[in-house]
Amino acid sequence: MATDVSATYPPPSDFAAQAHVKSMEQYREQYQQSIDNPEAYWAEVAADSHFFEKWSRVLEWNPPFAKWYVGAKTNMSYNCLDLQIERGRGDHPAIIWEGEPAEADGTPKDQRTLTYSQLRDEVCKFANALKAQGIKKGDRITLYMPMVPELAIAMLACARIGAPHSVIFGGFSAQAIADRLQDADSHVVITADGGWRRGNVVPLKANVDEACGMVGNVKKVIVLKRCENEIAWHDERDVWWHDVVADASTDCPAEQLDAEHMLFLLYTSGSTGKPKGILHTTAGYMVYTRHTTKNVFDLHDDDVYWCTADIGWITGHSYIVYGPLQNGVTNVMYEGAPNFPDWARFWQICQRYKVTKFYTAPTAIRAFMKQGESFCGQCDLSSLKLLGTVGEPINPAAWTWYHKHIGGERCPIVDTWWQTETGGIMISPLPGAVPTKPGSATLPQFGIDAAVVDAQGNEVDANETGLLIVRKPWPGMLRGVYGDEARYRKQYWSTIENAYFTGDGVRRDEDGYFWIIGRVDDVIKVSGHRLGTAEIESALVSHESVAEAAVIGYPDEITGEAVAAFVTLKGDAQPGNDLEETLRKHVATTLGAIAKPKTVRFTEGLPKTRSGKIMRRLLRELATTGRIEGDITTLEDLTTVAKLRESES
Ligand code: PRX
Repeated sequence: MATDVSATYPPPSDFAAQAHVKSMEQYREQYQQSIDNPEAYWAEVAADSHFFEKWSRVLEWNPPFAKWYVGAKTNMSYNCLDLQIERGRGDHPAIIWEGEPAEADGTPKDQRTLTYSQLRDEVCKFANALKAQGIKKGDRITLYMPMVPELAIAMLACARIGAPHSVIFGGFSAQAIADRLQDADSHVVITADGGWRRGNVVPLKANVDEACGMVGNVKKVIVLKRCENEIAWHDERDVWWHDVVADASTDCPAEQLDAEHMLFLLYTSGSTGKPKGILHTTAGYMVYTRHTTKNVFDLHDDDVYWCTADIGWITGHSYIVYGPLQNGVTNVMYEGAPNFPDWARFWQICQRYKVTKFYTAPTAIRAFMKQGESFCGQCDLSSLKLLGTVGEPINPAAWTWYHKHIGGERCPIVDTWWQTETGGIMISPLPGAVPTKPGSATLPQFGIDAAVVDAQGNEVDANETGLLIVRKPWPGMLRGVYGDEARYRKQYWSTIENAYFTGDGVRRDEDGYFWIIGRVDDVIKVSGHRLGTAEIESALVSHESVAEAAVIGYPDEITGEAVAAFVTLKGDAQPGNDLEETLRKHVATTLGAIAKPKTVRFTEGLPKTRSGKIMRRLLRELATTGRIEGDITTLEDLTTVAKLRESES
């Protein structure tokens, strides 16, 4: 059946009736107040959070540097745990976790439930253990762990004592860990022997060992036993998680931290080869994630909420750990792959725990769609009330499939646009208020002054494409790039005067709805994961056979974008399938499997402008259409295009 791309889906009336924001009028009114008087708005919102000491000023804005809730003292871990217990949620499940190993029919072999009180006990024990290991407020702690409750426990323990965490996605390799350890000057790593992924053990500890060999600054490695795989042990450096918590007390008062105390660093890709440490602080991020989680997912006390992201990405930070726990709901957490042992696993989990709010990535939806309806069709999905997507544009066909086969045509879909840098959701429907259009993230969240402008910063007309900017500071915004103020200014605050530049291209329709087109810089999104072309290129040229490399993203049916690499070889290196496979593997070992090029093409030269810039546009055209027909007048050496054309045929 053809997809009706012009369809509009109003909020179901029974959903709207119980929602926090019930109508478009209510949304518009509240939005206007938040834009007209942001400080009053954010002061009122913050009143629902716990502060040891109140702020003296809501916002101090010295562009591009913002301070929110100036002078306040608070603690994120307290707000996620103690505050919930004080509100009577102590015996309520905070985390329902399922490990990956399962019987052939999907019955899990590992399950755990932690109530808010039990979670606080575990967090306090681990926080005390960290202190006993000599860790102090301000020390940056690196976490490289599987999706197990201990990852959330470790983050909350760090937050409790004021030691900022830097979580590294478990799919990254040793070199990527080493780079991040060094940049953060982090001396402590928390990891596990291994983690389960599609039935295999990911050798996390071995990767950490290798990374520690590359940098000299790691003094302590705390190791959780998860897979019982064999690992190397360094007596002077390594300690077991279970040993350090064995005698630790369950009493650890939360540190009263300054509102602008660093809560975490999260490394992400940009346009250069070096990943940047995006810096988030305590109070603003806390208030912003709580508020957006409540509004966008329309959370109520009895919700069972499941976000399928990995905690190694910002989605997991904001919408698995900090946002949902601050709202006191039950959080489902799953360790492994969506197709283990088969493609029914996600839907079995929804059925098993009666998930009400479900948040995933378009790439996963497209992968499920390809498998057909037999997997989701065998599960009872009637508990679902709302569906969400994040990380990349969702094509209308995937949207309507999700709506029909997962949401039973009764669940509103929230397509949420945001970034590592924004800390929380920026553009998304409020499910009880805003009619949705498949493929559009719709309208801005409260307090978010988003606009579409041309390169000079002038707002463009409806339905014209432009750059997505944000004109006012918001509490969840990044506070900087760790150790690199110049990069912070240049990357985000210099493209358009007096505005935050997102790096995304966008169009706004006649109803003011935002339609995100994608990145306008050298960032590509593979399965919603953010990768920098420059990082992959530098991984390729670190191989002995490679002289030069150019990497582009091109459309892919399932992963949204895929990586194509164009490579020129050194002297006597021989192109061929073997070398292609070697180079793909080389990228996987240097950066991680997610960065592996889908195709590697060998060429005698790369198309460059006279000033030496690689003309990625031509490479993209070749990878996408198999042809180069675009304008090549600025090309330095016309024969390279002829050769590229030949290499294609
Ligand atoms: O290009 C946009 C895309 O993901 C980028 C941010 O990536 P990252 O920092 O990894 O954060 C992803 C999870 C929040 C954005 O610049 N993006 C994110 N959400 C959407 C999206 N593109 C279209 N629609 C979305 N809903």
